[in-house]
Amino acid sequence: MDDIAQKIVDAGEAGLWTGVERNLLSQLEQDPADKGSFHKLGLVYRQSGQLTKAAEIYARLSALDGEDGFADVLWKICSGNSGKDAREFGLIEPARFVVRRDFLSTDARDALLRLFEVKYPEMEELEVTLAHKNSDAEFKLDRSIRNQFGVYCKSDLEEIIQADVMKLFPAFCDALNVQPFLPGRHDLRLDYTPDGGFGKMHQDVGFGARLSYLYYFNRQPKKFRGGDLLFFDQNRDTGQPLPHQFTRICHEDNLLLVFPPQYYHQVTRVAALEPPLEAADSRLSVCGFIHPKEV
Ligand SMILES: [Fe+2]
Repeated sequence: MDDIAQKIVDAGEAGLWTGVERNLLSQLEQDPADKGSFHKLGLVYRQSGQLTKAAEIYARLSALDGEDGFADVLWKICSGNSGKDAREFGLIEPARFVVRRDFLSTDARDALLRLFEVKYPEMEELEVTLAHKNSDAEFKLDRSIRNQFGVYCKSDLEEIIQADVMKLFPAFCDALNVQPFLPGRHDLRLDYTPDGGFGKMHQDVGFGARLSYLYYFNRQPKKFRGGDLLFFDQNRDTGQPLPHQFTRICHEDNLLLVFPPQYYHQVTRVAALEPPLEAADSRLSVCGFIHPKEV
């Protein structure tokens, strides 16, 4: 499948976003009520990961048109409150997520960096999950869809990160409109994404998790770019993603992202600033999957 979102990110970083932003701002100077230009500008800011600017644009759109539920929910999501109180209507549903910057203490983050060194020899190429309705997930290696490595190591990771995430578990469910559930199995995986690594658009479904999270960290100074997360808008009726419409969360050290697993997401290609990129200097992450308790 053609990777439309990666092409948009590549073109955007090569200057497309700056040019389009300039044209749209000038269009809005001439016609401050041009809703179409506002929507296009909001999308450019979301695609480029400028969420504060995107929030401003959607707030203005929402003030301009009180019936625009899409603008209302994106105003809330891009402002950081995940859209819980937003009115939900309209054909297109943006993905909801919660971002927590500077999430772990420096000691905990450093413990993860040390754990990576210990676990690195055990890390294997990650498989792709193929979810089918009414059946267990299947797994296979497909390097056209994913190029990442990791190891499940719950006993090592839980002391470092799980308690901090679970302290906020009720708040995350509430903010994301996830039906409250009694948490049970909690899978934890330590990953790295090498130079050129990526993860194409997918959902975290098929294995029963009700809440997904990603914790990003990296050794300093940072020696790569990319590895950002893209969350795709979807058709509210069919649940199908819109590959050119997404919100980008730029990679940052010590950042936690929590989201309902059904929202389509993607990892942009990692690029070393000065190859070769050692694994310990690459995009490191913890993936967490919270399942409901079995009764
Ligand atoms: Fe995922």
